[in-house]
Amino acid sequence: MTSKQEKLTALFKSARVVPVLTINRLEDAVPLARALVSGGVRMLEVTLRTKVAVDAAKAIIANVPDAIVGIGTILNADDLARAEELGAKFGISPGATPQLLKAAAASNLPFAPGIATASELMQALAHGFETMKFFPAEQAGGIKALRALAGPFPQVQFCPTGGIGETNAPTWLAEPNVIAVGGSWLCQAVDIKSGNWAGITAMCERTVKSAKAA
Ligand code: 3PG
Repeated sequence: MTSKQEKLTALFKSARVVPVLTINRLEDAVPLARALVSGGVRMLEVTLRTKVAVDAAKAIIANVPDAIVGIGTILNADDLARAEELGAKFGISPGATPQLLKAAAASNLPFAPGIATASELMQALAHGFETMKFFPAEQAGGIKALRALAGPFPQVQFCPTGGIGETNAPTWLAEPNVIAVGGSWLCQAVDIKSGNWAGITAMCERTVKSAKAA
């Protein structure tokens, strides 16, 4: 494993839960990040799914020093370069095209490709990645699928996302090849829209508590 990968693996292991942030209004970025950090959740995946995503990530980096900001929904080499330029600490993709894997292997950004099948996983392994996002986790076969992948690929560690929430997060975290879980349940669209920062902090506190017990 390369040192940039070791960095990402260590980040996942210490975080255990990683919120997937979709920020539509720039002014929500900093209070949202503060709410997550207050709840004990520091590793944040800001997805490139909205027009303000890059500025939102920059605002969080500038104003919330305790947040460890990464970029999610990285789809190609340009997205990867944008993440590196803005000072992200890590990058995550829902998938793994050959072009993206090549660019990520050449970049200094700690990066987790997304996989849902053995063949995708093997492509990621061929580019030197051993820590991966399993996406969409529940929809792609859930824990049974992940256990099946552990057979031929014991060296791979996962952060599953997709369909994970407060109730099933501890079950996923109890799997030996799961180092963290991610998802949008920690900062739901309805709470962001209404500015329910206290509700987001409370959700984080509950999840962190149950993750520690898992
Ligand atoms: C992701 O990019 O990881 C997913 O959108 C998260 O899925 P969820 O919304 O089901 O948590």
